[in-house]
Amino acid sequence: MGEKRVLCVGLVCLDIISVVERYPAEDSDTSFVREDFQRYEVDLAHVVPRPARALPTSMVISNSTTGTRTILHAARCLGNLPDVTAADFEQVNLSQYKWIHWEGRNASEQVKMIQRVEAYNKTCPPSDRVTTSVEVEKTRPEIYQLFGYGDVVFVSKDVAKARGFYSAAEAVKGLRRYLKPGATLVCAWAEEGADAMGPDGVLVHSDAFSPEVVVDTLGAGDTFNAAVILALSRGRPLAEAITYGCQVAGRKCGVHGYDGIV
Ligand SMILES: Nc1ncnc2c1ncn2[C@@H]1O[C@H](COP(=O)(O)OP(=O)(O)O)[C@@H](O)[C@H]1O
Ligand SMILES: *[C@@H]1O[C@H](CO)[C@@H](O)[C@H](O)[C@H]1NC(C)=O
Ligand SMILES: *[C@@H]1O[C@H](CO)[C@@H](O)[C@H](O)[C@H]1NC(C)=O
Ligand SMILES: *[C@@H]1O[C@H](CO)[C@@H](O)[C@H](O)[C@H]1NC(C)=O
Ligand SMILES: *[C@@H]1O[C@H](CO)[C@@H](O)[C@H](O)[C@H]1NC(C)=O
Repeated sequence: MGEKRVLCVGLVCLDIISVVERYPAEDSDTSFVREDFQRYEVDLAHVVPRPARALPTSMVISNSTTGTRTILHAARCLGNLPDVTAADFEQVNLSQYKWIHWEGRNASEQVKMIQRVEAYNKTCPPSDRVTTSVEVEKTRPEIYQLFGYGDVVFVSKDVAKARGFYSAAEAVKGLRRYLKPGATLVCAWAEEGADAMGPDGVLVHSDAFSPEVVVDTLGAGDTFNAAVILALSRGRPLAEAITYGCQVAGRKCGVHGYDGIV
């Protein structure tokens, strides 16, 4: 077996990025300047829309002047795509992974998956155990129970604000008491970078690495999480890991899609 891998459990989407020179005027015909299909390599491709649903499940309008992105979800009219269940997760051979990350969606179901990893960890020597991380991104109280699981918890700016915090440092300090003992909390805050605190209680910060021109921030958060997980899974210290996260996410903000990032 090669090096153990990182498994991510959540929603996989195929981004089709169509670039236009300007926002289309009403009643006009506009040609795309460029169209990119983003490709990902996945181990467990689960949710595949049925042919009748082979329609975009959401659309994003990204303003390349400001880098902001506006998301339109079609989930409600197409019927929710089913989330990965604990039963699906039973099929995963845990010994192939060193780290498993969950994007907080159906939390009660995801708690069962994390508990399976906990039980597995108890059966193996420390070197074979699987580290877990969760992302609490959506402001749905049902998801907040995930704070209590995972060795590393990523909390979004949206959730932090919904809980009354106005900076990453405040959020990390204020939300840390909901974590399990020994866990680490990480909070990214767009152009203000990110803060984190591990079990030692030391607050670490990284400034953002802003590109010359911010053209597209869609996926900056996911890019940040991925880079932080990569660094931590390779044993890098927390401060270095969030700095790396901000560097890679900053590069992403300077390009359309993930050009030259992956
Ligand atoms: N406008 C920006 N300029 C520079 N870096 C950014 C910007 N937006 C996001 N980032 C980088 O991406 C990381 C994740 O930001 P976040 O706000 O969570 O992204 P998202 O927009 O995907 O929610 C930040 O910590 C920062 O390093
Ligand atoms: C993009 O941002 C610029 C600068 O704020 C603004 O003038 C423009 O109207 C925005 N375009 C769209 C389509 O929102
Ligand atoms: C899980 O993977 C390990 C390592 O690749 C392998 O030895 C084992 O047989 C697998 N278990 C199952 C149930 O497939
Ligand atoms: C979570 O998943 C379970 C099993 O698929 C389902 O019964 C339940 O309704 C889901 N809960 C939410 C909030 O989507
Ligand atoms: C699994 O084991 C790792 C490594 O010892 C430990 O850090 C972690 O807390 C365990 N994870 C779970 C979910 O039990």
